[in-house]
Amino acid sequence: MEKTITVLPGDGIGPEVMKGALRVLKAVEARYGHQFNVTEMPIGGKAIDETGLPLPSETLEQCKKSDAVLLGAVGGPKWDGMEKRPEQGLLQIRKDLNVFANLRPVKAFASLGDISPLKPELIENVDLIFVRELTGGLYFAQPKRRTGNEEAVDTLYYHRNEIERVVKKAFEIAASRSGKLTSVDKANVLESSKLWREVVNEMAKSFPEVKVEHMLVDNAAMQLVRNPGQFDVIVTENMFGDILSDEASMITGSLGMLASASVSEEGPGLYEPVHGSAPDIAGKNAANPLGMVLSTAMMLRHSFHMNDEADAIEMAVQEVLNANYRTSDIESKKGRISTTDEMVDQLIYR
Ligand code: NAI
Ligand code: MG
Repeated sequence: MEKTITVLPGDGIGPEVMKGALRVLKAVEARYGHQFNVTEMPIGGKAIDETGLPLPSETLEQCKKSDAVLLGAVGGPKWDGMEKRPEQGLLQIRKDLNVFANLRPVKAFASLGDISPLKPELIENVDLIFVRELTGGLYFAQPKRRTGNEEAVDTLYYHRNEIERVVKKAFEIAASRSGKLTSVDKANVLESSKLWREVVNEMAKSFPEVKVEHMLVDNAAMQLVRNPGQFDVIVTENMFGDILSDEASMITGSLGMLASASVSEEGPGLYEPVHGSAPDIAGKNAANPLGMVLSTAMMLRHSFHMNDEADAIEMAVQEVLNANYRTSDIESKKGRISTTDEMVDQLIYR
């Protein structure tokens, strides 16, 4: 297959982990006979330095005409206090690509048990994915002040269509995995949650192979710590998803391991690790490249439907961890510390 990918390395460790992801993609091309046409463009601090803007229009145009976008990370102390901020580029591109569904997998890789705060027997079987609504809800309400400056209001507004498109995405993902979907809401109190539940129940009729469960958000927060292995796909509105996915991310124990995808109905998806530009370790060949590499696997799976290729990358990550290759953020007592490049070398050999 031939695909066009726009690559936005960004700042700090962004270019370092992106270099690793591109080497993995080259290996996938060679093994499976694909052709990935890669165009690199500036975003964030690098783009401010070169053009004065965190998201130059050339970068956005290139992203829009590609099949998928890979992003490293943006930001750093160099641009602190400037009028234009690197992070504006990130918010802008999410908005301009209209990526309304944020997918965040949480997988407890075997042999990483030593860095999770949860007991090993609790995290053994954890392999879940959040589908968080990303462009609606409280965060996009018109903030209003009343009685002069005495009262603040945030409106939790959802249109049925906004719920439908993200819920449909979640059903599709559930159908391609174990067939279990947990919809998280607060339908005992919130009207928007009642509408959410209605939409989920209606959509369920089109996906008879998916078993749906509804869970109240407070219970979900508890269950994620008590028994995270019970979940497969979790779909929820913007703020609940923000909080719960951060909570769940601790199950794996390291920021450097976490991948994410933001997708729309049509148009390119945006794939990026959850971590930032890590200025404290930038330029030292010390960053964990696995979050970026796993984001690349998500791109292959969700944008290109290359499931075997994505499986192969995820398996290689597991094997490298089993063999005790570790960057410093996932240090184990058994292995020595590897550089970013050495981790990628090991992935490619497998
Ligand atoms: P951060 O995620 O960059 O770093 C937090 C801590 O985790 C640091 O100690 C860092 O060394 C470590 N870390 C992060 N990724 C790692 C990796 N792959 N391997 C090993 N260790 C890793 O968050 P922080 O320090 O709050 O922000 C730094 C800059 O990044 C800021 O300018 C911030 O605005 C930006 N940022 C950008 C994001 C993005 O581009 N998506 C997301 C979060 C922050
Ligand atoms: Mg958050």
